[in-house]
Amino acid sequence: MSEARHVTVDRYIDALYGTDDVLEATLARADAEGLPSINVSRSVGRLLHVLALTRGARTILEIGTLAGFSTICLARALPEGGRLISLEYEPRHAEIARNNLRLAGVDDRVEIRVGRGLDSLAELEREGAGPFDLVFIDADKPPYADYFAAALRLSAPGTLIVADNVIRSGKVAEDTDDDAIAGIQRFNAALAAEPRTASTIVQIVGDKGHDGLALAVVR
Ligand code: SAH
Ligand code: DHB
Ligand code: MG
Repeated sequence: MSEARHVTVDRYIDALYGTDDVLEATLARADAEGLPSINVSRSVGRLLHVLALTRGARTILEIGTLAGFSTICLARALPEGGRLISLEYEPRHAEIARNNLRLAGVDDRVEIRVGRGLDSLAELEREGAGPFDLVFIDADKPPYADYFAAALRLSAPGTLIVADNVIRSGKVAEDTDDDAIAGIQRFNAALAAEPRTASTIVQIVGDKGHDGLALAVVR
């Protein structure tokens, strides 16, 4: 099976980098708490870290915290005084993530806000928060296009907007009656049609199967 080969290659890449004890402990605690294994892969975690450093991000907004795996990858790229806000609907996920962020030593620069992502985004706008240098969209899929629109309102020229799960084993390329896939399709179409950003959609294979990331930079 080709899938097995993708898994083998991600293991090979992970072995090159060696074990990151903090990230492994984060995943182990998430698993012990019964959370689904829907964090980004270790490879994509390294990609998020590289992207945040490339952008020189001082302010990061994440939508969808889960246990804080991607949060830690991003927060570790912040310079002294940098800030990350992560939005999470489930209080229990937020609580597990706060513990993981503390044990990772990044709790001083990260704030987790509990609530519906769209409500928290509206609250951030009312507060006059932002502009954020990097926005990572990775929560529930039906409102992805709305998350993108809110991300744009909280952006400035140069802001990098990244969105996870934009391929879903290629299901995005077919007709669907699945709300999540339909939400991603609306997001992908809105992204491609958005003149305020330069963007691309990249397929990724690895130990999480076949999925992908959208990358958009605000003009
Ligand atoms: N970014 C994480 C994975 C996030 S999984 C990582 O890679 O490590 C998606 C998360 O979005 C889950 O924790 C889920 O509870 C949360 N979520 C679901 N619906 C949401 C909503 N309406 N607003 C905010 N978060 C939501
Ligand atoms: C799934 C994967 C994700 O990365 C995510 O953010 C949400 C759901 C999944 O495989 O179901
Ligand atoms: Mg995801």
